[in-house]
Amino acid sequence: MGSIIWTYLIDEIMAYPEFPNHDDFTAISKVLAGECEGEITIRGWIYRTRSSGKLAFIVLRDSTGSIQSTVSKKNVTESSFSDARKALIESSVIVKGIPAKDDRAPGGWEIRASDFEVVHFAETFPITKDQSDEHLLNNRHLWLRSQSMVASLKIRSTVFKAFRDYWTDNEFTEIQSPSFTTSACEGGSTLFNVYYDDEKEKTGQKFYAHLSQSWQLYAEATMFGLENIFTLAPSFRAEKSRTRRHLTEFWHAEVESAWVHNHQMMELEEGMIMHIIESVLSSNRKELEILGRDISVLENIKAPFERFTYQEVLDKLNSMGFDLSWGDDFGYKEEKALTQDLTSPMYITNFPREKGFYHRPDPNDPKSLVCHDLLAPEGYGEIIGGGERVWSPDELTERIREEGLEPESYGWYLDIRKFGSVPHSGFGLGIDRTVSWICGSDHIKHVIPFPRTMRRTTP
Ligand code: 4AD
Ligand code: MG
Repeated sequence: MGSIIWTYLIDEIMAYPEFPNHDDFTAISKVLAGECEGEITIRGWIYRTRSSGKLAFIVLRDSTGSIQSTVSKKNVTESSFSDARKALIESSVIVKGIPAKDDRAPGGWEIRASDFEVVHFAETFPITKDQSDEHLLNNRHLWLRSQSMVASLKIRSTVFKAFRDYWTDNEFTEIQSPSFTTSACEGGSTLFNVYYDDEKEKTGQKFYAHLSQSWQLYAEATMFGLENIFTLAPSFRAEKSRTRRHLTEFWHAEVESAWVHNHQMMELEEGMIMHIIESVLSSNRKELEILGRDISVLENIKAPFERFTYQEVLDKLNSMGFDLSWGDDFGYKEEKALTQDLTSPMYITNFPREKGFYHRPDPNDPKSLVCHDLLAPEGYGEIIGGGERVWSPDELTERIREEGLEPESYGWYLDIRKFGSVPHSGFGLGIDRTVSWICGSDHIKHVIPFPRTMRRTTP
């Protein structure tokens, strides 16, 4: 933490002298690593507790780990001992004591307490073992303290950082786009409409804006000044499909780059995925173990990733017993079948023309597009959608019409093509899906603090 924060904390402590100094406390991970000698003080929350007439065994957790403290009636004051016996799980406590190696204790160490202070006595915690998913979601504000949530969220943080580092190191500029928009990027069926009060004043009519499905159209405009850009932001989609990989508000990591063709963008993405995996492997082995993830599976991921065209995939799926024709979408079932036995991600290129108005038709095969999806292995499926953009203004107008959209609604988007248009490509990576895959999670909701789906907006 920076010194400014410490100066601020010291001022706080001077103002409230009973508030202990941050430096006086030891992180539990340090004790477990055998780095502590002599008396130390730890603080945290009670994770498990049991006691007899003379001894209380209290497992304490902080954000770095958990450790057992033994509170013996003969070593602490009477009131401390009585508090130690009384305090329920999730009570916040401060324990002073000497670390001792003890193979019987979980983690191999325990603290023999010389003082035990309850900062706040918790009420009976509403979450006990083996509760339904629904109960855990209703109590998400409390479930966020669980070991598995903490582990997933630490991995999530590494993925955010790795994404940012990779593109920053490649000299891309981080930039933001609006969440209120008026032009649909990914089709009308998943648009969220928001009653936009201010506009009513001007037009006398109720006006609805949409919540952004993707930064892409704005990114293409911003790109003309900065050339290479990326963002990390929420995107919103009114997804009717209730699957293990759909949220209505998801975190979208998107990139746009001038002068870059589809195949070059795919190579950059490969580098990004490998960097994300390597970062998690170097920072989060402990968390992966907590989640029961087989680490060797992540260690075996290798680039370059295999590339197939849509037509090749179509044929492969049909040979597996599916009944698909040109133009059909691949849903969860198809992607699961394609990827469940893979050890590394795979690319699908050349999707049919109907996939999106902004993708550039392949000059050698105009019924398909110069675009790609990246599918994660082990049955996870699509984590990236991207491609090369139509860059001629006339072709773009034609494509917008072809999709049954009105060129007038895309006025400014068409305008950017009129002033020095260039080939360019971009993509969107679903961060939550990526974290879900890396964690080996069975549902996307396990890797975001407060998941939003069509049926859930609380807590
Ligand atoms: O494939 P999509 O729809 O592509 C786009 O939005 C492009 N405009 C991106 C771009 O080129 N800048 O979405 C990109 C990725 C998907 O591959 C998926 O990982 C994720 O966003 N995604 C979702 N993740 C969770 N819940 C949802 N409802 C998602 N919809 C898309
Ligand atoms: Mg897609």
